[in-house]
Amino acid sequence: MRKFIVGNWKMNGMSADLGEIAAISAVAQLYTSVDSALCIPATLIDRAVKAVGDFPIGGQDCHMQNSGAHTGCVSSEMLSDAGAVLTIIGHSERRAAQHEQDSDIRAKAEAASAAGLKVIVCVGETLEERDAGKALDVVLGQLKLSLPDTVAGAWLSVAYEPVWAIGTGRVAEPADVEEMHGAIRAALKERFGEECGAIHILYGGSMNGDNAAELLAVPNVDGGLIGGASLTAAKFKPILAAAQATSE
Ligand code: PGA
Repeated sequence: MRKFIVGNWKMNGMSADLGEIAAISAVAQLYTSVDSALCIPATLIDRAVKAVGDFPIGGQDCHMQNSGAHTGCVSSEMLSDAGAVLTIIGHSERRAAQHEQDSDIRAKAEAASAAGLKVIVCVGETLEERDAGKALDVVLGQLKLSLPDTVAGAWLSVAYEPVWAIGTGRVAEPADVEEMHGAIRAALKERFGEECGAIHILYGGSMNGDNAAELLAVPNVDGGLIGGASLTAAKFKPILAAAQATSE
């Protein structure tokens, strides 16, 4: 499968960073065997889309309604209207800080796909949950409740991001990643059928140029969701190179 490498800029990015976004898109387009995208703050999407041509730009969240009395929120239709072609949903930072529940994430995923966006649904356990031996149960439970029943075609990716690996420099062991990604793949196939073999399951959590080759070689790791190492073209490039080497 072609690898899918997605940058997540989180709450980083000002007008002055549009040049870096253009540099990232230019580098990404050199790796023709890799699908890539950059998810950036909503305030930059319109200008970034104009700066990068065909390179996919995405959001990092959306509301489950298309419009209405939801002060401060951005809908999937608004993201699409601004030129986004994908969005992250259910990132653990939002599950924790904005108290997003699986049912919210499912409704957002439905709204985003209805608006024509590709969706990356994030799942992942906390360190306490892993230490208690509950990682598989937690992640498969999130997956079950966060995904709509209509999972068809290429609009969905799943990102497995252990919460304790995000932004910490601490990376999950390849054997643990393999176990989790295999379990996610099996759960997808059981619920939605064999065609779910084509859904990208991304790993996220301190992926960088030093560890990407090892992580991307793990069975059922079909790409990465990358925070810190997506902020510059220089840091993103070796991850793309590792993805190119492991893309099929
Ligand atoms: P990180 O973030 O690569 O900085 O750990 C990944 C993410 O939260 O998507």
